[in-house]
Amino acid sequence: MDVETLKKEAGVAACAYVRDGMNVGLGTGSTVKYTILELGRLVQHEGLNIVGVPTSIATRDLANEVGIPLADLDDLPGLDVVIDGTDEFDPAFQLIKGGGAALLREKVVAQASKRMVVVADERKKVDVLGAFPLPIEITPFSYGTTKRQIESVLGCKVSMRKHDGELLRTDNGNHIADAHAGPTITEPEAIEARLLSLAGVVQVGLFNNMCDVVILASSSGVAVLEKGD
Ligand code: 5RP
Repeated sequence: MDVETLKKEAGVAACAYVRDGMNVGLGTGSTVKYTILELGRLVQHEGLNIVGVPTSIATRDLANEVGIPLADLDDLPGLDVVIDGTDEFDPAFQLIKGGGAALLREKVVAQASKRMVVVADERKKVDVLGAFPLPIEITPFSYGTTKRQIESVLGCKVSMRKHDGELLRTDNGNHIADAHAGPTITEPEAIEARLLSLAGVVQVGLFNNMCDVVILASSSGVAVLEKGD
């Protein structure tokens, strides 16, 4: 089965976690895109009544296109659920996110949500985090110094992410440093804390103790994995 079909299966299955009247965090990426498309269909054609909070400009634009009513997180008392993709998840449901450079807003929205549902295909399941380069959002000011500090903390190479030949700018105007740690991140909470102690680090793409459910699509079907199973 091709990856796009798996992404669609996981993305659509996640809509089962959305009920009428909910405030819903809308993640970013090519898997959760299918959740957003399906939620748009449910809103437009099945009378589903929800308010969405997007985690990126790209997701805001897509949600507007498909007709999901949106609000600012600040104007809501909180979110019932966030549905988002991931780059990796380990057996404890710790995540690496930020492949789409939206990690800061994704984390703010996830922390405001009662529940986090992650949509993924089988390539995202790992024993140890880190084969996917760890995205770290850093300030443009003296980014070279921050990059060197990250290299020293992690003991690995760090590359600055580019877009169209220029240093990538996130929706928040920052840069992304990708840390090539390899599958070595056995203590993601300690790593996150050490990186966050660097002044130039805005946010780290380790999402620790946030994910409650993974909807995992593989060639043998869609499995719903609950934390602690
Ligand atoms: C964006 C993210 C994405 O959710 C993550 O990169 C997964 O994306 P995709 O579903 O396209 O593989 O964290 O910042």
